[in-house]
Amino acid sequence: MPRLARKNTGMDREQRLRIAIQKTGRLTDHSLDLLSRCGLKYSRGKDQLLCYGENMPLDVLLMRDDDIPDLVQEDVCDLGIVGSNVVREKQLAQDAARTTPGFEVLQELDFGRCRLCIAVPDDFPWAGVGSIAGRRIATTYPNILADWLRSAGITAQIVTLSGAVEIAPRLGRAELICDLVATGGTLAANHLREAATVLECQAVLIRTPVPLSKPKEQWLDRIRLRIDGVQQVKESKYIMLHAPRSALPEIRRLLPGSESPTIIPLEGSPDRVAVHAVCRENVFWETLESLKLAGASALLVLPVEKMLA
Ligand code: PRP
Ligand code: ZN
Repeated sequence: MPRLARKNTGMDREQRLRIAIQKTGRLTDHSLDLLSRCGLKYSRGKDQLLCYGENMPLDVLLMRDDDIPDLVQEDVCDLGIVGSNVVREKQLAQDAARTTPGFEVLQELDFGRCRLCIAVPDDFPWAGVGSIAGRRIATTYPNILADWLRSAGITAQIVTLSGAVEIAPRLGRAELICDLVATGGTLAANHLREAATVLECQAVLIRTPVPLSKPKEQWLDRIRLRIDGVQQVKESKYIMLHAPRSALPEIRRLLPGSESPTIIPLEGSPDRVAVHAVCRENVFWETLESLKLAGASALLVLPVEKMLA
């Protein structure tokens, strides 16, 4: 890739920030979207591994998520966007090896929320966490799992895999798995169900602990301020709907990330109300369909441009 070769000079590393993000997976689109919302315009290199920042001294490296803490640690990148699950796993491994972490967590990014879960085959006789004792559990997060088992006082065998954990029970490599669950689609497709939560996770921004050159530190400060701005309004939506009063508890439960909706009586229909709420998460078609099933009608979703608490 000639462009990278030309740009990747010693001088450039002094001047340009480099951030690693997940190449393919749950965090990829959100990470690129966040950087775009922070104002970054980029062109993608031929090998699809490096995006060159055209209007900011910030280049984006697309990598396997599990490698991102190491890339920051080894100073290949100054910054990284990665799941807190990957960060935690790395930190626990480093604690065990008594080495100091070569990266710092700067902030949570409020996307890529998921949970690290114990999941069992559909026909597994689950009767609470005691059912784990003495079993084999396949995972790519052996340190987090070991830590959780220890604090739960459970003895079990950890089978460490590098991927495709969800097929381990079918292959007879383990009876249970410990893996990330976001929508639950992967579990369902593999006839598994969620049984216990080990860790709640989301994307975080990490940086090298090594001081950067002055221009790079200044750009990092600007980028972080822009991230804060993006987070204020990000996926907020204003949602309006009509509903029977009796459906309110279910509707409030379904409204994503809304604190206290405004409930307005509807003229001429004492049993029905209008509900207005700011949802601090994206509102998906699935949510609207569930709201409708719960009795809502006249659903309207509007973008929120600015918000002042
Ligand atoms: C995770 C996990 C599952 C998937 C679960 O992969 O390993 O494959 O997400 O999501 P779902 O519940 O919405 O189906 P991730 O993108 O984190 O990449 P990985 O392959 O590095 O684990
Ligand atoms: Zn991974």
